[in-house]
Amino acid sequence: MSNDENRVLIFDTTLRDGEQSPGATMSHQEKLEIAGLLDDMGVDIIEAGFPIASEGDFAAVSEIAKNAKNAVICGLSRANFKDIDRCWEAVRHAKAPRIHTFIGTSPLHRAIPNLTMDEMAERIHDTVTHARNLCDNVQWSPMDATRTEWEYLARVVDIAIRAGATTINIPDTVGYTAPNESADLIRRLIAEVPGADEVVFSTHCHNDLGMATANSLAAVAGGARQIECTINGLGERAGNTALEEVVMAMKVRHDIMPYATGIDSTKIMNISRRVATVSGFAVQFNKAIVGKNAFAHESGIHQDGMLKNAETFEIMRPEDVGLAETNIVMGKHSGRAALRSKLSDLGYHLADNQLNDVFVRFKALADLKKEVFDDDLIALVTDSTATD
Ligand code: KIV
Ligand code: ZN
Repeated sequence: MSNDENRVLIFDTTLRDGEQSPGATMSHQEKLEIAGLLDDMGVDIIEAGFPIASEGDFAAVSEIAKNAKNAVICGLSRANFKDIDRCWEAVRHAKAPRIHTFIGTSPLHRAIPNLTMDEMAERIHDTVTHARNLCDNVQWSPMDATRTEWEYLARVVDIAIRAGATTINIPDTVGYTAPNESADLIRRLIAEVPGADEVVFSTHCHNDLGMATANSLAAVAGGARQIECTINGLGERAGNTALEEVVMAMKVRHDIMPYATGIDSTKIMNISRRVATVSGFAVQFNKAIVGKNAFAHESGIHQDGMLKNAETFEIMRPEDVGLAETNIVMGKHSGRAALRSKLSDLGYHLADNQLNDVFVRFKALADLKKEVFDDDLIALVTDSTATD
């Protein structure tokens, strides 16, 4: 275990930002189930919803707050007293509640409520102060931080800290930033904003350019100690940072990213499958860590290597993410060694001449199908031994 300085908090927002993806709505029961799984796997903070958004969201956040065993339960609220009060009403049932309040600070987002820079600064001061009077754990986010002018961002972060925010989250709302910028921004905020060392800096990345995981890890290198993420990277547009990716990256490459989380990685596969089912968002086959092919091998060279030493083509063990074993897929690229091993697993130990015969017919069949299943192999062997 690394020292506390290297402990990175995992803030999961599957039930808030993840559920905001069009079509990903989950039922009340499903949300409670996912929250229970997140709590069990060691997520530090669960963002359970946006209580003012609907009666359903309010009810789900309240019940998740009542049931949580270890995790801090957080709700989202815009920068107004009504939202913040409603959020507090829902999260206050938790053993450890958090209010998360945000406002868009970039020029594009400032234009929407039509506030001047000074008016927005005042709003931030007043709303964070209000939240802090209700709850001693307050997170503040300048939405679209990565497209906000540096001077203004530093000014409003300073105001939020003085008003009592305990976590400052820096969102890359539209997935615009790049890893070097992500690290530099956090590093500079920590170095230049007075009081920055009294709060936790957090990173919240979207994946519009496919850089959410890299940007989140770069932010940690820059000093962030909370990563906001979702299971399977569920989230609006191209999604959010995927929890399983940042957790496994820090575990597998601990040599260059010496950070620790509280996540039990063996619970990853189960929650990934449950989130895919309840959200209706299937996981792409080649998705890192949790895709169907992430631990599958079809080519002969890879299968042969895997049979001799799994580290030849796998940098993590399947059991470390909760998968029983590597999947050796029999197809037209498979070789004789994999066929022999597969048949032996199925209970058939063939002499060389029999294996040669089955191999020829296996290749002919594999040319006609995407995958040759165990039953196909059994039929080939039975056929071969019957004609002997
Ligand atoms: O992407 C974003 O900016 C958000 C904020 C509400 C934190 O989800
Ligand atoms: Zn977001």
